[in-house]
Amino acid sequence: MIIKTAKFVCSSPRADMCPKTTEPEYAFIGRSNVGKSSLINMLTRHNKLAMTSSTPGKTMLVNHFIINDEWYIVDLPGYGFAQRGKREMDKLKNLIEHYVLEREQLTCLFVLIDIRHEPQKKDLEFINFLGENGVPFALVFTKADKIGKQKVNAQVNAYLKQLKDQWEELPPHFITSAETGLGRDDILNYIESVNKSLEEQPE
Ligand code: GTP
Ligand code: MG
Repeated sequence: MIIKTAKFVCSSPRADMCPKTTEPEYAFIGRSNVGKSSLINMLTRHNKLAMTSSTPGKTMLVNHFIINDEWYIVDLPGYGFAQRGKREMDKLKNLIEHYVLEREQLTCLFVLIDIRHEPQKKDLEFINFLGENGVPFALVFTKADKIGKQKVNAQVNAYLKQLKDQWEELPPHFITSAETGLGRDDILNYIESVNKSLEEQPE
């Protein structure tokens, strides 16, 4: 897929305040600092589209971007940023859960995992929540440039093995680096093929 245009549309503080659109939506979620905004900028080749920061918890809103005037990328706030107060954390959790469960346009939720880390309880809980609720999702391992190639494969295999203990079917997965552009074609081709299959489906 070629990205011709990528434009910021709006930021929404609540799931029910998101734009009333019908086009397919691909959202990016994961722990704070995992690289959601960086990945979006890498995919769109737009280094200032989504705001990135070395301070975790920067994205607090649901941000919509329209791609090629045909489909949306959504940057979601990071979950599990414990340094915030409980009220803020509950608000974010609420926002994410409402968006993920109620957004009909949500076509695939990309769940980002920092490839350097062992499977984290918060991520596994979130993945189970998605599986139990039938939310379509894919895994995206980020920051692959930070470790060697062999380690990349070992980390991914260990992660998938852990999921296999619980789930019969594994979600699609992608290995990426916002630094080198690794995984860009794979993700964009995947989105393109899903968009095509939606177009072919009768209403
Ligand atoms: P929040 O919005 O705070 O939840 O964070 P985020 O998930 O959007 O992360 P963000 O894209 O802001 O990136 C966090 C930090 O990780 C930044 O300092 C990025 O430069 C760095 N980073 C993100 N992706 C990569 C990557 O693929 N490789 C390397 N080396 N650094 C990365
Ligand atoms: Mg962000």
